Amino acid sequence: MIVRTETIDQRIETYINDYQPDKIVVVVSETSEKLCLPKLQIYKKIDNIIYHLPDGDEAKKITYCEDFWESLLRENVTRKSLIIAVGGGAVLDFAGFCASVYMRGLPCIYVPTTLLSMVDGSEGGKTGINLYGTKNVIGTFTDPVAIMRNVDFLSTLNECELLSGWAEIIKHALLTGGNLMELVKKGMPLSSDIEAWMNIIRENVIFKKGIVAEDFKEKGQRKLLNLGHTLGHGIEAIHFEDPKINHGISIACGLYWESLLGYEMGFTNKETFDLVSSLVFPLFPKIGWNEMEVEPMTNLLMHDKKNHNGKIQLSLLKSVGEASYDIEISETEINEYLTKYAMAVHESND
Ligand SMILES: NC(=O)c1ccc[n+]([C@@H]2O[C@H](COP(=O)([O-])OP(=O)(O)OC[C@H]3O[C@@H](n4cnc5c(N)ncnc54)[C@H](O)[C@@H]3O)[C@@H](O)[C@H]2O)c1
Repeated sequence: MIVRTETIDQRIETYINDYQPDKIVVVVSETSEKLCLPKLQIYKKIDNIIYHLPDGDEAKKITYCEDFWESLLRENVTRKSLIIAVGGGAVLDFAGFCASVYMRGLPCIYVPTTLLSMVDGSEGGKTGINLYGTKNVIGTFTDPVAIMRNVDFLSTLNECELLSGWAEIIKHALLTGGNLMELVKKGMPLSSDIEAWMNIIRENVIFKKGIVAEDFKEKGQRKLLNLGHTLGHGIEAIHFEDPKINHGISIACGLYWESLLGYEMGFTNKETFDLVSSLVFPLFPKIGWNEMEVEPMTNLLMHDKKNHNGKIQLSLLKSVGEASYDIEISETEINEYLTKYAMAVHESND
């Protein structure tokens, strides 16, 4: 559900009145505490405990989990308590994971504050933290008790964070087509265009909910949501030292490179490949790899946790609204593809 901040307050209040938690713990990051928490009136009324995290993936560390669980014990937090996570995907993943295992499970409300976490991270029940640099390798499948999306939070997001969410929105539109694709073709709305954002976020949530309802544990069609993420994660990993190449840019470029691969394999039709290019490139820079990066990138892709039988498992588009998962690519095939397009990246960057 997508609402305005005052409605979130009412909904949290209703939940609290019904559930009667003995304690409420609000989890925030530095920025969400500064920019988002003050917009919620409810937190001023209730005598809650605030747990502070650093911004971004820095929070998704086991050391913070230990510290959080220790604080919960110190504050006598019980199964009858309630966690409210207010922040981007990192805060939600952290709070959702910690809540799901503390005393075998506390209820957790998500209040996503970034575009990405509104359209993706808050929905679907995946919680997770990182370990030794491997993303989301420790986690659970646990739904929050409620998700309260609030378009008012979008106004403080910078262009880069909006684009990060937009890359996932393009992915959802390619997978489902229909109304969402029509909205996406109009381009990214201004952050002040609340009505347009509410429509777009609603369509994304309906789409993701539908996929997850059929396949919560990602045994089948939920894998479609990995579209763009295999090459996207590879791009993100080889450019990890460059702060300008963030998750959203990597995923947007992953969508492009995977649709080109699909087109070369005779799987993705030309019209779809052209559409992907036209949705990605007016907004995102074209990031790829050079010849020196072909081997490291091949190695990274061969160690993807989604692989099976020593082969990469890709989700690829046939056309808009029609895609397949578990398409196998061998090490030789991916190496040849990366080698072929390494030159093109150099040329386009010159
Ligand atoms: N569980 C899932 O299904 C799922 C899906 C996608 C991504 N994720 C995870 O989510 C994380 C990425 O999510 P994200 O993009 O929300 O990143 P994030 O949580 O790191 O937030 C990005 C930045 O925006 C700031 N921020 C948050 N709200 C803001 C606001 N309203 N105004 C201004 N700044 C604000 C944050 O403090 C942070 O610095 C990753 O850890 C990723 O693994 C999880």
